[in-house]
Amino acid sequence: MEQIIKQLEDEIKTRFHKESSGHDMYHLKRVLNNAMTIQEKEGGDRLIIAVSAFLHDIHRIIQQETGKFCSPKDSLVQVKEILDKTNLSEVQKTNVLHCIEFHEEYAFSDTGKTVNDIETLVLQDADNLDGIGAIGIGRTFTFGGANKVVMWVPEQPFNRDTFDESEKDHSTIHHFHSKLLKLKDNMNTETAKKMANDRHNFMETFLQEFFDEWEGKK
Ligand SMILES: [Fe+2]
Ligand SMILES: [Fe+2]
Repeated sequence: MEQIIKQLEDEIKTRFHKESSGHDMYHLKRVLNNAMTIQEKEGGDRLIIAVSAFLHDIHRIIQQETGKFCSPKDSLVQVKEILDKTNLSEVQKTNVLHCIEFHEEYAFSDTGKTVNDIETLVLQDADNLDGIGAIGIGRTFTFGGANKVVMWVPEQPFNRDTFDESEKDHSTIHHFHSKLLKLKDNMNTETAKKMANDRHNFMETFLQEFFDEWEGKK
């Protein structure tokens, strides 16, 4: 497995080196780490999960290059090209493509969740864990900066109950409410739910501090 990951790393290093929106190579490595921790307790095919974790965000690169929204499904042709350079079997490749296609399903989005195979569920959890906690806070402000989104606009109400990845938030703080604070209850596996708890509490503390400071209360 290490060998395939090394091969993939070389393959995608050049594609990801310019990424500055929070979906860089280290996001892929952290998601891989999260996924391996979860898989150890929850099971599932370790190789499929590892390869999927490492290739799951090619759609972000395409989006950055074209300037247009690109869904995970839209990225599958490019992912397949990379997979074809490995010695994975056709069945394994199909399974990886399936995980990647469905890694961004959220229970709180309009369409909800439609898959329930353990490999995709672990990938979803691993990816979502990297969106919350200290790393999540860092990433969401980095994403805001890269996309010229302001920190907070008090005059703009929170008006999005459902989350749509293609819609922009008014501010980075809005993004906590439209997505990040919902991720804890969106975890699929018991292992990820436990990991998400601490990360979620840390974000709550951060937001409390943010607003206290904004109001000059402390
Ligand atoms: Fe993604
Ligand atoms: Fe991701």
